[in-house]
Amino acid sequence: MLKVDHLNVYYGESHILHDVDLEVAPGQIVCLLGRNGVGKTTLLKGVVGILPARKGKIYFDNQEVTALPPYQRAKLGIGLVPQGREIFPFLTVHENLLVGLEARKDNLISVPNDIYELFPVLKSMLGRKGGDLSGGQQQQLAIGRALAMNPKLLVLDEPTEGIQPSIILEIENVIQRIKERGTIAILMVEQYLEFAWRVADYYYIMAKGSVVAKGPTQGTSIDSVKEHLTV
Ligand SMILES: Nc1ncnc2c1ncn2[C@@H]1O[C@H](COP(=O)(O)OP(=O)(O)O)[C@@H](O)[C@H]1O
Ligand SMILES: [Mg+2]
Repeated sequence: MLKVDHLNVYYGESHILHDVDLEVAPGQIVCLLGRNGVGKTTLLKGVVGILPARKGKIYFDNQEVTALPPYQRAKLGIGLVPQGREIFPFLTVHENLLVGLEARKDNLISVPNDIYELFPVLKSMLGRKGGDLSGGQQQQLAIGRALAMNPKLLVLDEPTEGIQPSIILEIENVIQRIKERGTIAILMVEQYLEFAWRVADYYYIMAKGSVVAKGPTQGTSIDSVKEHLTV
């Protein structure tokens, strides 16, 4: 459903991504690993259209999207949960979720109930300002907002970063439930390997802007992967 083909992305004159190939199948959960600064966020931004491709192509749902701006990719079904969450602090929880509806094709005007089923905590806080929530609640809100777009591919950038263990388990539980439904694929950058291994079907490891290893998580030991990640 997502195919990244020889993607090259630059910041100005700095060449950050070098011929990156990556695929995500429908319903598949793919984790993207690598040390800080190797280009994981840059790759996700290339996938969602925040950064342009200098060379290479991106296909989504059998359609080339390389030249499409982010809002058009969102309409096609690519939903992003950005690193650092980036919810709207001065909007309420409910208003933040409504923003997610904007990107839908079907003009739905109320937040689907299944989002509250996945995140009961959000339902109890609808009138609170986003900025007043805890870090873990903000992450749940950011995921809820992306799900409100009704995505076919959910792109998550370090969902457990800076979040306390009990909330990490809740987020893992939500990802497991999304996985069981089998209707949404996930591409996720994650530093917490045990978590990534429990949820992901497939992994990619990046170093210096290139993919250096990949494979199914099942049958691959976390220790063998760690070798690529330690300095
Ligand atoms: N806005 C920017 N302008 C210039 N260089 C950037 C910018 N953002 C990131 N970079 C550089 O691009 C490289 C990859 O960054 P990033 O994709 O954020 O890494 P990761 O997410 O793997 O930690 C790093 O060397 C970083 O310094
Ligand atoms: Mg990053």
